[in-house]
Amino acid sequence: MLIQARKKSDVLSSEITLHSVFMRRREFLRAAAATSAAAAIGPFMLSDPAMAGMKLPNVQKTKWTRESLGKDDDLTPLKDVTTYNNFYEFGTGKGDPARKSKDFKTKPWTVVVDGECDKPGRYSFEDLIKPHELQERVYRFRCVEAWSMVIPWVGVPLADIIKRLGPTGNAKYVAFETLVDPAQMPGQKYAILKWPYREGLRMDEAMNPLTLMAVGLYGEELPNQNGAPIRLVTPWKYGFKSIKSIVRISFTEKQPPTSWNMSASREYGFYSNVNPLVNHPRWSQAKERRLGGPTNVFGFVPKRPTLMFNGYEEEVAAMYKGMNLARNY
Ligand code: MTE
Repeated sequence: MLIQARKKSDVLSSEITLHSVFMRRREFLRAAAATSAAAAIGPFMLSDPAMAGMKLPNVQKTKWTRESLGKDDDLTPLKDVTTYNNFYEFGTGKGDPARKSKDFKTKPWTVVVDGECDKPGRYSFEDLIKPHELQERVYRFRCVEAWSMVIPWVGVPLADIIKRLGPTGNAKYVAFETLVDPAQMPGQKYAILKWPYREGLRMDEAMNPLTLMAVGLYGEELPNQNGAPIRLVTPWKYGFKSIKSIVRISFTEKQPPTSWNMSASREYGFYSNVNPLVNHPRWSQAKERRLGGPTNVFGFVPKRPTLMFNGYEEEVAAMYKGMNLARNY
């Protein structure tokens, strides 16, 4: 996602991604074999050194299962989910978050709630997330850089949290911020983005049943590199909307500023809905490469068509009825 003036000799970030996918083909093949073995005994039997978190007990099953997706939507191997990350607070390399977030302190954790709501205040993680409400949802996850994954998230619907906070009639948007702590987050020593990382949703998007506040994946607490202890997941939007390690939730009347839009408004809009028909100014969004996905006869993961709203059209298209999606990208 790094924004730079492009020289002719430069490689697109999407190409860099695809190159690294190619180079890691053997690793994927090994991981894919491990996944099919694990699938036989259930996803929660997987263990990996990347997962340091606790098992989350009594997670409820939902209709968003592996089976609810397509036949080519196998779960992305845990290793890829936890070692190929974007979390610029820990560096811009895909491996930086896993390497540099090991000592990130996520307990205790406080989230400030403010703005247009009846119950502003400082909430502990435990105030916001009730263990008996945890659900598992297997979602497709599409990064703006044209790679994608399928991830079994654990979390609670954002709508349930919002209802408890009592937004007023003036609350038209929900804004989120990530922690700022350069001592723990070495990437924040550089002005790659204006910190804190910020994101936002329109109220109807925030209340959409698909929108999840995730606190875990693969049945365990979120690894630090994936946004522990609490991050957003909006599966019909590009991955950069899924803000990590949230410390502030604000209810606002006006559309809030968002990090990537502030950084490069021509490239990243507020909505950021996955849309194969609207290209990024520097690359196509028509296709994507599924990390750890099925390989072709050459042992290479081929590109696949990107689905409108990442395949969640039925659940979300009505929210954008009448809107020009090329203009509201
Ligand atoms: N949240 C914060 N705070 N900082 C970030 O750099 N990167 C975003 C999003 N959330 C980012 C963030 C981007 S670009 C993507 S694609 C996803 O996180 C990646 O999530 P993952 O590493 O869990 O796959």
